[in-house]
Amino acid sequence: MSTFRLDDCEIPFEPGDTVIRAAHRAGIDIPHYCWHPGLSVAANCRMCLVELMPPPGRQAMMLDVLRWDEQSQQYVKEQKPKLVPACQQTVSAGMQVRSQSSDHVTRARAAVQEMLLLNHPVDCPICDQAGECRLQDYWLSQGSTKKRMLDEPVHKPKAVVFGPHIVYDAERCIVCTRCVRVCEELAKDPVLSVAQRGNLNEITVSPGRQLDHNYSLMTEVVCPVGALTSHEFRFKARVWFLRSVSSVCVGCATGCNSFTDYDPRESRVYHYRPRENPNVNKHWMCDSGMLDYRRIHEGRILEARIGGEPVPRRAGLEKATDLLRGVRGSKLLIVLGAQFSQEDNAALLALGKKLNCSAYFESGQPGGASDDILMHADKNPNSTGIRKLLGPTLQTAEQLLDGLRSGQLTHVLSLGATFKDSAIADECGKLSSLVQVVMTSHDGTLVAGAKVVLPVCSWAEADGTFVNAAGLAQVSEQAIMPLGQALPGWKWVSHLASSLGHELGLASLDDARRLVEAPTGTNRTAGAVQTESQP
Ligand code: SF4
Ligand code: SF4
Ligand code: FES
Repeated sequence: MSTFRLDDCEIPFEPGDTVIRAAHRAGIDIPHYCWHPGLSVAANCRMCLVELMPPPGRQAMMLDVLRWDEQSQQYVKEQKPKLVPACQQTVSAGMQVRSQSSDHVTRARAAVQEMLLLNHPVDCPICDQAGECRLQDYWLSQGSTKKRMLDEPVHKPKAVVFGPHIVYDAERCIVCTRCVRVCEELAKDPVLSVAQRGNLNEITVSPGRQLDHNYSLMTEVVCPVGALTSHEFRFKARVWFLRSVSSVCVGCATGCNSFTDYDPRESRVYHYRPRENPNVNKHWMCDSGMLDYRRIHEGRILEARIGGEPVPRRAGLEKATDLLRGVRGSKLLIVLGAQFSQEDNAALLALGKKLNCSAYFESGQPGGASDDILMHADKNPNSTGIRKLLGPTLQTAEQLLDGLRSGQLTHVLSLGATFKDSAIADECGKLSSLVQVVMTSHDGTLVAGAKVVLPVCSWAEADGTFVNAAGLAQVSEQAIMPLGQALPGWKWVSHLASSLGHELGLASLDDARRLVEAPTGTNRTAGAVQTESQP
């Protein structure tokens, strides 16, 4: 691979690469605001300026400039090299580029930084971006010049509601146009644009419109400063109190890679952010996926129940054991959960085999909207994983309804409380003689009629593997401690198996993972480039 020189590093590049893209791939940060690896090049912020060294025997292109001389208290003429934006300059073999090592670049970046802050409000103490704001970071790393302008700054509209999820502060905006390009290039809905000129310019929504497409929260994610904030996260938490884990969105079968931001002090998840994976979601997530973190704390089942009444965990387990002990395999329906991890499902399948069960079905969320960007019509993260585990033994809805109506199936052990097809939940509700033991993280149609309910950890409370629609097995990490009495699904299954006199050998998550990999050949992959989501 060809290389070029950036300061004292030799950097490989691909044909067509710009300086900043090749440096970014090599893990070297060239300060920037408007450039984003997933968007077109606007080259409007001038923060990424670098110096190109002339080839041997050629002179650098020089500019005549005036420099203020403190001693003589007047401007003096001098020359300086013409700097170029690294986000626009394509690389060629042998090129020599100076970034941190050039005094001209250092001065230019400090000047850009000072200009961007001329009219910027002193909002940091109340700004949601504080702690992860590029204006703050680059002020420290690229100059730290004190503000010299004594005039009243230009005032612009604040807290403008752009749409159902996004609020805009024009005074904080540096008009980098990342948000404009997200709407145009990702969402294919050019609803934002730049109005006015010079220091009066600001971002506006098209007349008669709202910023309400399915990727509106991506505008907040790409905004390098605190100009765009989300209704859901505004003033809720300070970022320096939050911790992050690498997770997988469970909002649909695409399996977008995400970061889960949570506060460990209160075991609460506050935020999702996209995690770059070129093979799945690139840099993006849809709005419904970004907001799906709310389900971690909403509609949960957090205690064991017998006949609808809360009971201690052990009592729930004992009752479930009593109900399932001695049931003939041909009478038992095992329901795997498309909302749950491969580890949970593999454990339940292993128990089903011990109990000689032959009827298997799946629970999950009903289908929904899709698009040709990311959103999948299957709103479950692990339907493909269940198919890999069950193969042809997965019953059709018709077979299941026949089994229930004919009385062939008398007992149900379910992971998950919602069916994709509401007719099945209705049928289960009608059959009062049906003995249902439901392990679930969330309330659902099966809960009301269940003899026993056992609380299961959500995806944020346990490590787990999910297989997306493309067949990629991806690991999602635990963020918060289990809420209430919840246990990971595989652990409930292990306890239940032991109580029923069967040993599954599930002492740890790794044991459950071995169950996943043994029968199916499913190899887990991080499938993800573990980089920060805000390039
Ligand atoms: S709102 Fe943010 S992303 Fe949009 S132009 Fe302003 S600074 Fe850039
Ligand atoms: S497309 Fe699906 S997996 Fe991706 S963020 Fe949206 S809901 Fe989540
Ligand atoms: S990042 Fe290159 S000009 Fe803005």
